[in-house]
Amino acid sequence: MRKKIVAGNWKMNMNYEEGIAFARTLDQYFRNKPALKADVIICTPFIHLAEIAEIIKGGKVALGAQNCASEASGAFTGEVSAYMIKSTGAEYVIIGHSERRTYYNEDDRLLNKKCVLALNSGLRVIFCCGEVKEQREEGNHFVIVKRQLEEGLFPLGAESMKDIIIAYEPVWAIGTGLTATPEQAKEMHKYIRGLIKEKFGNKIADDMTILYGGSCKPSNAAEIFSKPDVDGGLIGGASLKKEDFTAIVEAV
Ligand code: PGA
Repeated sequence: MRKKIVAGNWKMNMNYEEGIAFARTLDQYFRNKPALKADVIICTPFIHLAEIAEIIKGGKVALGAQNCASEASGAFTGEVSAYMIKSTGAEYVIIGHSERRTYYNEDDRLLNKKCVLALNSGLRVIFCCGEVKEQREEGNHFVIVKRQLEEGLFPLGAESMKDIIIAYEPVWAIGTGLTATPEQAKEMHKYIRGLIKEKFGNKIADDMTILYGGSCKPSNAAEIFSKPDVDGGLIGGASLKKEDFTAIVEAV
């Protein structure tokens, strides 16, 4: 069965104490809510993972990291492996965020390696895809997203798809205040589900959660989430404010 999910991506924000306090606030808030229509995930910096994993135990918030190493272990100074992330109690990892693709030159082959390591470590993957502004203006957005999925995700094979969540994030909408129109989101999400159907069949396509990300906020979330094939959101800036993030979760 397809799940609705709202995931927060804290990016490189909040020091240790701030992050722990914020996680505690969110945990308390959602714990006291009787029934949520969406699963809630927070993807925090590495330094927060282990303690937040303790805080959220038995509650309604799940935990993820924002990246993992492309190697399993060894002499890779400064890196954090998927296996280490899993050992903190986190369950998810974001792979292929456009900021990693752009600033750290991560390409789909490398991202595929990261996905393999994450899945082998028992993590679920939130795999991001999306076109930049010029690619959309040139009408290449479908081609780009198709290539990202075909190279980064599909080689993982059908059995892995149950542990994958896809996030479509048009890069021109991330942190810019520009949101894809609900129609643009609907169209791309339908296209992505169609690609999965072609590759892996109806059941896997129907079960796949496909999130929208890019300047999602309380004022636009409900309309975007109401579109067919949009199963929730990956939220950056608005995941750092309790009122905004909880309102977006409640918009599902
Ligand atoms: P934004 O970021 O909500 O701040 O646009 C989304 C993301 O990068 O996942």
